[in-house]
Amino acid sequence: MANEEKIITIDGPAGAGKSTMARGLANHLRWTYLDTGAMYRAVALAAEKAGKDVSDEPGLTEVLTELDLRVKPGLSTTRIFLGELEVTAEIREPRISGLASAVSAQAIVRRAMVDLQRKIGETGRVVAEGRDMGTVVFPGAGVKFFLEASPQERARRRYEELLGDGVKVSLEQVTNDMIARDQADSTRALSPLRPAEDAIIIDSTGLGVEEVKNRMVHLIHQKWETP
Ligand code: DC
Repeated sequence: MANEEKIITIDGPAGAGKSTMARGLANHLRWTYLDTGAMYRAVALAAEKAGKDVSDEPGLTEVLTELDLRVKPGLSTTRIFLGELEVTAEIREPRISGLASAVSAQAIVRRAMVDLQRKIGETGRVVAEGRDMGTVVFPGAGVKFFLEASPQERARRRYEELLGDGVKVSLEQVTNDMIARDQADSTRALSPLRPAEDAIIIDSTGLGVEEVKNRMVHLIHQKWETP
């Protein structure tokens, strides 16, 4: 099997359960979990620190030139550093979500991140989570999933996750932010969020974590064990 075939991709909108499933599958297979949203979040944080507007292309070019982004994917986390500084927790803050969505629409940013993601995926045995993993970054991946859930359920999950992290937000705020971000991510010109033609689409509305994970594990084994 070529190395790219030894990649599982999970794409889908915010709050669909991609991270939980990607971690679960990486643990199950003893593979590496790659969170590519964290990479766009890190670029957004770097732009913010440099005082650059996220839609200013020349400004972002400068940010990318100076960027010392270190991505350390593991079994259940992708740790992110800007230089020596670990920003794994800081990039999860809600203000960074909108900024990350905006920087991710810029061609120059996507090009840099896609190159880095492919480099990380070179050796295979990676579960890669994002918006364009199956369509653009790893088109030859062995198994591609597209995870969906109703907007209400996705907003509730994201809200509970933020509460768990000690972030003070209202459900209404989370819902509005999420809808705006999904709209931007799905309608942008470059690599918009959409399922790959050969992706398996799973709607996790009303399903528990174990149920979705077991379904995915079953589909993976079925695909790889059927000649
Ligand atoms: O998955 P996330 O919420 O951490 O992603 C943050 C933003 O990054 C999201 O709004 C869209 C963008 N993104 C992207 O464009 N391509 C990816 N592969 C991953 C994330």
